[in-house]
Amino acid sequence: MAMATLTRVPFIYSSSPSTTVGQTHNKYRQVALSTPFLNSLPEFSTHGFHASYSYSSSLSFAGKTSRKSCSRGAVKVLAMADSSRSTVLVTGAGGRTGQIVYKKLKERSEQYVARGLVRSEESKEKIGGADDVFIGDIRTADSLIPAIQGIDALIILTSAVPKMKPDFDPAKGGRPEFYFEDGAYPEQVDWIGQKNQIDAAKAAGVKQIVLVGSMGGTNPNHPLNSLGNGNILVWKRKAEQYLADSGIPYTIIRAGGLQDKEGGVRELLIGKDDELLQTETRTIARADVAEVCTQALQYEEAKFKAFDLASKPEGTGTPTKDFKALFSKITTRF
Ligand SMILES: NC(=O)c1ccc[n+]([C@@H]2O[C@H](COP(=O)([O-])OP(=O)(O)OC[C@H]3O[C@@H](n4cnc5c(N)ncnc54)[C@H](OP(=O)(O)O)[C@@H]3O)[C@@H](O)[C@H]2O)c1
Repeated sequence: MAMATLTRVPFIYSSSPSTTVGQTHNKYRQVALSTPFLNSLPEFSTHGFHASYSYSSSLSFAGKTSRKSCSRGAVKVLAMADSSRSTVLVTGAGGRTGQIVYKKLKERSEQYVARGLVRSEESKEKIGGADDVFIGDIRTADSLIPAIQGIDALIILTSAVPKMKPDFDPAKGGRPEFYFEDGAYPEQVDWIGQKNQIDAAKAAGVKQIVLVGSMGGTNPNHPLNSLGNGNILVWKRKAEQYLADSGIPYTIIRAGGLQDKEGGVRELLIGKDDELLQTETRTIARADVAEVCTQALQYEEAKFKAFDLASKPEGTGTPTKDFKALFSKITTRF
């Protein structure tokens, strides 16, 4: 592998003069209007597979232990509760938004049986190493099957990750240059990889797919497309279209610039056609995106919808709590 030094770099969505790539140099986590999303890609060789999580065996196990310690009524309630839970897989579960979604699903265990998909043992350990975390690579369709088998819903949070060329010296000024590793260009990850997930989900009879995309896709000349010659927004958009055409109930969330900030404390804003990019409110906390992903599983109003998502600054507006009302505001199917 020619480029062994992997560097986390910011991915900037705003065209504001205060948020140019040239400013992204060393303080990768400092940015207020832009956000680091670009992670390092491990080598494309780790295809471990994990023993599939068995929903039915966990039910019978619950029944067995309960018989010893609980009344028959309690067993029945437990079994009913389990059969009403939906099994949800989040891919990119080692990523910064994906981890939050995985955690939220685990915390809501009365509603969900959580699964995660990551690319390496290292990522798996990072999020707790549980048996419900599968290892696979979205570029290889077969590697997704164990994770997708038996799920009710899929949340896609995978993305190609541009790297900053190591020779950039902020002291000399100028702008860093970016590249994608061979085989890990947006075409392979954001298009083929997302398509593989959608196809596998369709084959497995998945009932809903939530896909996190990005604002900026209406402009083919968006500066992000020239980053590492990857056309990242073009390929993301193509995958979004593929999902919208798939016939599976979908929710496409086109997030604004992601920020590692507390969730649940801002008023969320729904937009369309990148109109929010022309305003001052074009960023959103990863934790809020993660919450919208999980809430989308709850409401019919979120299905067959695609929308832009940002938030007002903290302290202005009313923090969003009513997600049914939020989803009801969406008027766009794509
Ligand atoms: N950053 C922004 O400002 C911004 C703005 C709008 C929208 N978005 C979108 O929001 C989403 C979440 O962003 P984020 O910054 O939270 O994500 P992130 O931290 O960059 O995570 C991306 C995840 O994708 C995984 N991945 C990449 N290639 C893969 C492959 N071939 N197989 C399996 N997994 C693969 C990575 O796995 P590893 O952990 O193994 O590397 C990583 O966990 C992304 O779709 C991004 O495009 C970002």
